[in-house]
Amino acid sequence: MSSLKIHRFSMYDRDIDLFEGQYPVENGVTYNTTILENEQMVIVDTVDARMCDAWLAEILRCLDGRRPYALVISHMEPDHSGSLKALCSLYPDMKLVGNAKTFAMVDAFTAEEPVTNSRMTVKDGDSFSFGDSSLKFIFAPMVHWPEVMLCYQPETKTLFAADAFGRFGSSNPEDSWADEGRRYYTNIVGKYGAQVKSVLAKAKSIEIETICPLHGPDLCGEQLTKVMELYEKWSTYTPEDNGTLVAYAGFHGHTRAAAELMAKTLIALGNEVTLIDLARTNKSFAVAAAFRHKNMVLAATTYDGAYMPAMEQFLTAVKAKNLQNRTVALIENGSWAPMAGKHMRAVLETMKGIQILPEVVTLRSAMNAANREEIAHMAEALVR
Ligand SMILES: Cc1cc2nc3c(=O)[nH]c(=O)nc-3n(C[C@H](O)[C@H](O)[C@H](O)COP(=O)(O)O)c2cc1C
Ligand SMILES: [Fe+2]
Ligand SMILES: [Fe+2]
Repeated sequence: MSSLKIHRFSMYDRDIDLFEGQYPVENGVTYNTTILENEQMVIVDTVDARMCDAWLAEILRCLDGRRPYALVISHMEPDHSGSLKALCSLYPDMKLVGNAKTFAMVDAFTAEEPVTNSRMTVKDGDSFSFGDSSLKFIFAPMVHWPEVMLCYQPETKTLFAADAFGRFGSSNPEDSWADEGRRYYTNIVGKYGAQVKSVLAKAKSIEIETICPLHGPDLCGEQLTKVMELYEKWSTYTPEDNGTLVAYAGFHGHTRAAAELMAKTLIALGNEVTLIDLARTNKSFAVAAAFRHKNMVLAATTYDGAYMPAMEQFLTAVKAKNLQNRTVALIENGSWAPMAGKHMRAVLETMKGIQILPEVVTLRSAMNAANREEIAHMAEALVR
């Protein structure tokens, strides 16, 4: 029997305005770290510099006068390494455990105040022993940085999962996971479906009871199974449901009216709909909805021969996240020379597995009776 104790620390950052400089987090975000305790103390990851002081206070309390033997660095992004320098200054004899790419980043991030702690460089599949326990490293390159590695603790069947399986919002397991888990995954890791798939395959070959991500609640039992199922879908760009994202962008409300009619019609047909005003909603929500549903209806106004910037930004985002395997219907508006449909199609055609319905609904300023009928037909075609 190993004497290992696992202490988890979740620092709840409620004041951050934008995570990674672009994602609003109304319910904040947590940075999770771990102390593994047996006759040695091993820390896994630090926290964002924003929470450094509060975190150090908790770590020092747990160490209770003992000196940490090692710091394992599973991911060098500053939301997890921002307090590395402070910890290393307190404990210059603490060993750093990472891979070759980790240490190149340690040097780059501390260029002007180098960290001089000794280093242990590990390879994929290596184990690191401390006391009567160990951690095994499973490299997860590009989930979502190149140096990322997951750490598996065999006796407790615990997987420290770096940024995988994280979520925006609290670390409370009682809070519903899916919406903020989806928005986190699709926006942060979404582009790297192939890499996530290969990590999921590796995870299947080991017995896991608990997943400890760097953000959000630890996952076990039924919830772990559900999250795994969602990750299988997201990483293969498989929709979760047959619903529809209706996303629109216009100037004066006429394009919105068409989008709203489309949403109402789809709902009347029993379809689940997420309706989003792209100019007034952070695009991370629209990206998440696009990953969730099978269909998209994109409605945009023509703007100086091109189309609304909010729609262009949305399409740039979903293309960048590699979204695939969706059915898309287009609604365009233009008072003298409608062009939005052509522009939207041009982007969609460069994406994989996107089926675009051939009939485009063209408004010439305001909806007319023919447009209303076309929208009804389009809704039926999508639901069919
Ligand atoms: C700044 C501006 C530029 C526009 N450029 C075009 C254009 O190049 N071609 C066109 O057909 N309509 C153009 N329009 C008209 C819009 O397409 C018009 O707002 C639309 O027909 C009405 O839909 P809405 O209420 O959703 O904005 C422009 C409108 C604005 C305000
Ligand atoms: Fe990260
Ligand atoms: Fe992170």
